[in-house]
Amino acid sequence: MFRPISVLVFDSPEAACREIAAQIARLIRERSAAGLATVLGLATGNTPLPLYQELIRLHREEGLSFQPVVSFNLDEYLGLDPKHPESYRSFMRRNLFDHIDMLSENSHLPSGMLAEEEIAAHCAAYETKIVRAGGIDFQILGIGRTGHIGFNEPGTPIDSRTQSIHLDEITRQDAAPAFGGIGQVPEQAITMGCGTILEARRIALLAWGEKKADIVRDAVKGPVTDKVSASFLQTHPAASFYLDRGAASALPA
Ligand code: GLP
Repeated sequence: MFRPISVLVFDSPEAACREIAAQIARLIRERSAAGLATVLGLATGNTPLPLYQELIRLHREEGLSFQPVVSFNLDEYLGLDPKHPESYRSFMRRNLFDHIDMLSENSHLPSGMLAEEEIAAHCAAYETKIVRAGGIDFQILGIGRTGHIGFNEPGTPIDSRTQSIHLDEITRQDAAPAFGGIGQVPEQAITMGCGTILEARRIALLAWGEKKADIVRDAVKGPVTDKVSASFLQTHPAASFYLDRGAASALPA
């Protein structure tokens, strides 16, 4: 039904990230030369760290300016103060925003500090901000062991919008070391929906290491199913998987 998704395999995460960062830099420079901002969709987790390091290097050593960039992060834990070291706001500052010249008013993350009755309006406003910015030009994704993109856990429909979700037990276990125990890991998060993500004009999903190999195979080769939200990328006309050899090791040769 769908054409096979593009899968690119690299010798190392760093090599893959040099390629993705070069594409992002080209996009920013081309759009900026035409007087246009570039809208990036950003992800957290360990996976995008080498990409952020390369973007910082391009800024420092090759003069790439992020002033004409607007960003929207995929998700944020609910109930965490933005100053908490494990909040995605802190993560983004520490690993990217503090090291480039992006204007602070141009970086957007869902709020983690919302009362139950504020959630729906906040999520709707996040969607509106993305639309007003012109939509996402380039979306970066990681993949969770449950196959989630953003925090869209199994069962989230393909047309879902930004919303609050309950985190899967596997996702909370994976986050437990960073929080100092599963008891400290929030149970809920706000995430861009699958439908929101699929509206990005270009999507790059990154995955490294053998522990991601089985879920990558399910996402790329398995049926398009809400059991693996990354499989929805098979329906996107410009989505690519950037893998190292470990993450690609369960794919048929
Ligand atoms: C979290 C994030 C996802 C990320 C996933 C994988 O659940 N919300 O966006 O893709 O973790 O994390 P890692 O990159 O550390 O393997």
